[in-house]
Amino acid sequence: MTAYLIKSVSVVGAAPTDLLIRDGVVAETGAGLAAPDATVLDGTGLVALPGLVDLHTHLREPGREDAETVESGSRAAALGGYTAVCAMANTSPVADTAGVVEQVWRLGREAGLVDVQPIGAVTVGLAGGQLAELGAMADSAARVRIFSDDGHCVADPKLMRRALEYVKAFDGVIAQHAEEPRLTEGAQMHEGEVSTRLGLTGWPAVAEEAIIARDVLLAEHVGSRLHVCHVSTAGSVEVLRHAKARGVKVTAEVTPHHLLLTDAKAETYDPVYKVNPPLRTATDVAALRAALAEGVIDIIATDHAPHAVEDKECEWAYARPGMLGLETALSIALDVLGPQWDLIAERMSRAPARIAGLDGHGADPAPGVPANLTLVDPAARRTIEPAELASRSRNTPYARMTLPGRIVATFLRGEPTVLDGKATK
Ligand code: DOR
Repeated sequence: MTAYLIKSVSVVGAAPTDLLIRDGVVAETGAGLAAPDATVLDGTGLVALPGLVDLHTHLREPGREDAETVESGSRAAALGGYTAVCAMANTSPVADTAGVVEQVWRLGREAGLVDVQPIGAVTVGLAGGQLAELGAMADSAARVRIFSDDGHCVADPKLMRRALEYVKAFDGVIAQHAEEPRLTEGAQMHEGEVSTRLGLTGWPAVAEEAIIARDVLLAEHVGSRLHVCHVSTAGSVEVLRHAKARGVKVTAEVTPHHLLLTDAKAETYDPVYKVNPPLRTATDVAALRAALAEGVIDIIATDHAPHAVEDKECEWAYARPGMLGLETALSIALDVLGPQWDLIAERMSRAPARIAGLDGHGADPAPGVPANLTLVDPAARRTIEPAELASRSRNTPYARMTLPGRIVATFLRGEPTVLDGKATK
């Protein structure tokens, strides 16, 4: 195993130091380190972060390997600075059995670019009618701890209660896609001034807020852990704030796109901006940013949602919702938060690793810690060219935008998955 000596790098924004990586761990830190057998990397001007952890990734395998595979999504993740991703269950077949979650987990190990932690479905086939084999998935080789019907809401309150009760036994988490389906029938975009003007059926904020309110009460009643996926409205932030003040075990995520883009993008009728939950208003964006800074929202998660060209480059009404995220998330975070490295490390690595229970991830580079880390050049700017992305899909909303920051290198247990901005395999 090659040793790496990174000279003069800022660890999470601190004064520059040297980092020696050997045998899969950070062996030493300090000024003037020497290691004759190590490959030396110049870290001048770079920031070392704990490897990013994405709690919400769609890898599309099995079933839609034309849009993404575990391998291509893992490569996109590594290039984005990630060392672990949690793969959502809305594959085909759905990841609702031990067999499917083990398949995804094994494909992740074979790709070897990031740790792929499968998420299991809450209900059979994501159909919302019957609990899936949560225990079997938890006991499988994939050791599933997060369950989600993401893409669909667990709308039945009785099933949601049962799911929360079930996972409590092994400290599992139910990650809810908060969308009251009766309130979003036929919805195409955020319900508001823009949808009225465009004549598109609206997805009202209250459809999200009502489910979050219900579920924090259920989680409190059961004493179980709830995670809220892709929070998108100012009202949801208020519900979460209230729940956290009461001591409910709830955590929440926001996506990069909900931190940056608004429903005004729908005016272009370009389906690349169609996403679920939809892009909201500038007021919502401001509330989400404030909540992220404050900690009412715990993490940034990408909701990386690759879609094949025929599912995306069509009329708005027929296009699938979702956007790519893994290869641009850190740049959007830098754009939105500025160089607040400790906050970025917390929201994109430490906290998601804690929520997912991913040992070995989410720890700042320090002696003895597994060498899961990424090196960022904050001064670099890059223009996003969809054709250059590692994802099999092209549905990035940031095409031809120039964004701050570049991932220079990523290490997974001491082995580089990315060097010089390029994947190593
Ligand atoms: O926009 C979305 N796309 N939201 C979801 O919840 C699901 C996802 C997908 O699977 O494409």
